[in-house]
Amino acid sequence: MNRQQRPMAAAAASLPPGKSTGEKDRKSNSFHRLFPLLLLTLYAIASVLRLALSSPFPTSFVQPSASSSTFSAESRQEAESLKTHIPSETHHVQAEEDNPVAAPPPCSALIDGTAASRNEAAAAFVCCDRSHIRSDLCYARGDIRTDSASSSVLVHGMKSAAEAIRPYTRKWDAAITRTIQEISIRPANGSRRACDVRHKGVPALLFSNGGYTGNLYHEFSDGLIPLYVTAQRFRGEVVLVVAEYRPWWLARYRPLLERLTNYKLVDFSRDTRVHCFSEMIVGLRIHGELIIDPWLMPDGHGIRDFQALLLDGYNAVAQSKPSLPAAESPPFLRSLVRSTRREQAGRCSRSRRPRIAVFVRKSCRVLVNLRELVRACRRTGFDVQIIEPKRGTPLDVIHRALAPADAMLAVHGAAVTHFLFMRPSSALIQVVPLGLEKPAEEFYGEPARRLGLEYMAYKITPEESTLSKLYDRRSSVLVNTSVITDRGWQEMKKIYLDKQNVKLNLTRFGKVLAKAYSHVCAVARRIE
Ligand SMILES: *[C@@H]1O[C@H](CO)[C@@H](O)[C@H](O)[C@H]1NC(C)=O
Ligand SMILES: *[C@@H]1O[C@H](CO)[C@@H](O)[C@H](O)[C@H]1NC(C)=O
Ligand SMILES: *[C@@H]1O[C@H](CO)[C@@H](O)[C@H](O)[C@H]1NC(C)=O
Repeated sequence: MNRQQRPMAAAAASLPPGKSTGEKDRKSNSFHRLFPLLLLTLYAIASVLRLALSSPFPTSFVQPSASSSTFSAESRQEAESLKTHIPSETHHVQAEEDNPVAAPPPCSALIDGTAASRNEAAAAFVCCDRSHIRSDLCYARGDIRTDSASSSVLVHGMKSAAEAIRPYTRKWDAAITRTIQEISIRPANGSRRACDVRHKGVPALLFSNGGYTGNLYHEFSDGLIPLYVTAQRFRGEVVLVVAEYRPWWLARYRPLLERLTNYKLVDFSRDTRVHCFSEMIVGLRIHGELIIDPWLMPDGHGIRDFQALLLDGYNAVAQSKPSLPAAESPPFLRSLVRSTRREQAGRCSRSRRPRIAVFVRKSCRVLVNLRELVRACRRTGFDVQIIEPKRGTPLDVIHRALAPADAMLAVHGAAVTHFLFMRPSSALIQVVPLGLEKPAEEFYGEPARRLGLEYMAYKITPEESTLSKLYDRRSSVLVNTSVITDRGWQEMKKIYLDKQNVKLNLTRFGKVLAKAYSHVCAVARRIE
């Protein structure tokens, strides 16, 4: 219909020049009289065509009233509640172009807050945006009540069919998505259960804390950064409803979570009370691996804004506990190793001695010659802080250890995620074992550069891999890693992630260390 209308309007606007004004007026008058008729005719044709072509729902029948100039708020509501029947995102957009007054905004705009939801008498309304490869999201408005016993969110007066969603950000990863608790958003039947907790005027954001939660990388990439992406625009005025909630997760990330919500978290499964909301988003937006695309953010925020919030949170913890009780500090932190050439460190910067934080792993991808590595770091001029994180290592301890560091060094693995705690312009050295170039770059290299770190990948040679002791020198495992990595993640994991340790060639590695050192010195001089 749209396409047919526009040329018409264009024709009306560009009447041939040279005619008298009267003639022009008469012409346009008759045109004005004819125009609605034409419109109606075209519309009727278009509706019939549309119906015949695809639309299983009578949505288009609602719109004629909308396209007349005097449609009431009531019919707008009607059109809006029918909006969920429109099956795809493109239809929404088209509908909006057809008539900007009547058409509801696309679901994605409601989720992102780029279009205000018209809160007319809180007409029940649910829509889902399933257009992204990484996650599905749903939006609900109206009288919304949680029903954790049936893993449901009940929306009174919801006219569309129930929606089922697994609110986790790895939709493309079928194996893990299957394990995520499914949430049903459905019409409530019969009498309403009384509200136990009424969240007046504060929307809810429901998401899963399951999946790969427990792995630092995934906690940030699949969880916290998407949470920031989705929740930041509320500036704290949002209630986080967490499915598959884990108490340790709150303990670990409280300093950050407190900056994303002004309210207590709701443990969706164990909290059997009925929580009542008038607006809810289910699911999280995700832009990619450890990244935030400012172009996709309502306020143009990026990963640095996320980092600022993160550091703000953990700085506050550090200030409230000026010194750690002795029992709390080390196992994770070895005592600082001072550089030997003090005079050289002095030349680097008057006020500080460059420090490198070295993350060590215990079971695989171990730095076999750590002792020599530490010596090489000291010779270069670095003070060395060794950190041995374990699953339960409090993040504020790690933050405290990283705050004075100018460079960070880690073998590829989840611990590299700690670079999020490093100041922009500090240096990150990732040691990349054989066969892991791709994940190293995708998961950490690119995100680190985006954060503004001086990123250096140190790709080891076959001689530096302990796999060279297990395989023949000419084996493709050593000389052409794509033979294995092309077979998929499982094969790659079996050999390159799980069976490999690293013995650095310190002659070769020393060059990278020296580069990192001169970088941090240059930065320090710039600051002074
Ligand atoms: C609601 O009630 C109708 C009719 O009694 C039934 O067919 C439908 O399955 C019910 N829906 C839910 C979600 O309980
Ligand atoms: C490495 O192996 C792949 C097959 O997995 C092959 O296509 C490629 O040509 C090999 N490269 C070299 C340098 O041998
Ligand atoms: C270490 O690296 C240097 C420089 O790249 C090289 O000359 C030397 O042979 C390597 N040492 C070993 C033991 O591989």
